[in-house]
Amino acid sequence: MQHSTIEKSIPLMAVLTLIMVSIGGLVEIVPLFFIKSTIEKVEGMRPYTPLELKGRDIYIREGCYNCHSQMIRPFRDETERYGHYSLAAESMYDHPFQWGSKRTGPDLARIGGKYSNEWHRAHMLKPQNVVRESVMPAYPWLQENDLKIDDIEKRMKVLSMVGVPYTPEQMANAKQDLTAQASPTADGAGLTARYGKKVPKADFDGKPEKLTELDALLAYLQMLGTLVDFSGQPAKAR
Ligand code: HEC
Repeated sequence: MQHSTIEKSIPLMAVLTLIMVSIGGLVEIVPLFFIKSTIEKVEGMRPYTPLELKGRDIYIREGCYNCHSQMIRPFRDETERYGHYSLAAESMYDHPFQWGSKRTGPDLARIGGKYSNEWHRAHMLKPQNVVRESVMPAYPWLQENDLKIDDIEKRMKVLSMVGVPYTPEQMANAKQDLTAQASPTADGAGLTARYGKKVPKADFDGKPEKLTELDALLAYLQMLGTLVDFSGQPAKAR
């Protein structure tokens, strides 16, 4: 068939274009049905502990994502400041993810372990306590509000429905693990067995007798970006 015949007939041109685009689409899409995951597995990743999960919910409720991203891009200026660039696997259990697109404040993808719990407490009560020129608002109620934990099993169950691998045992012990993590003196053997040795146990909010929303938020912040061990990585920046 002459090329000019195709070019002069709009219906024929449309049909043939559609066929070509479909072939291109199939080549890109069909392989995805045959691989189990598009995310490369990375050692160290685990689902959030119940306390961290509650903290994440508070982070979302308070709108922290309006000013903070959680995605370090693979550029030198970012990796020099924040650490190793974020891997896809590091947000594989995030529903919804918190990558964000606005940085009024710094990226928080690797904030875990950068400051002490005391620093975070002072900062959340009034950011200007520790960073004089800060424009971040204060969140004093977090240290007053009791943490509501009645729905924790349900939260974990819903997440397991969308692919977070919570085990029945983790769900059954959710409340126990949650309170254990917020207390340095409680028996944390179950928590360690279910979530690993690296999980920090602490009185995050500085109020040993109370389980507050600040306990949960700080447990969450203190683990961000700490699960994958990058210490053996030669080059941080590209
Ligand atoms: C209006 C914008 C804004 C909102 C909303 C906001 N922040 Fe910030 N945040 C900032 C700015 C600006 C800084 C840098 C100055 C400072 O440290 O206070 C900052 C700093 C921080 C830091 C220290 C980061 C570092 O590497 O030094 C943490 C942690 C933090 N914010 C957590 C939170 C959390 C948790 C929330 C939600 C409860 C939140 N922020 C809400 C603007 C904001």
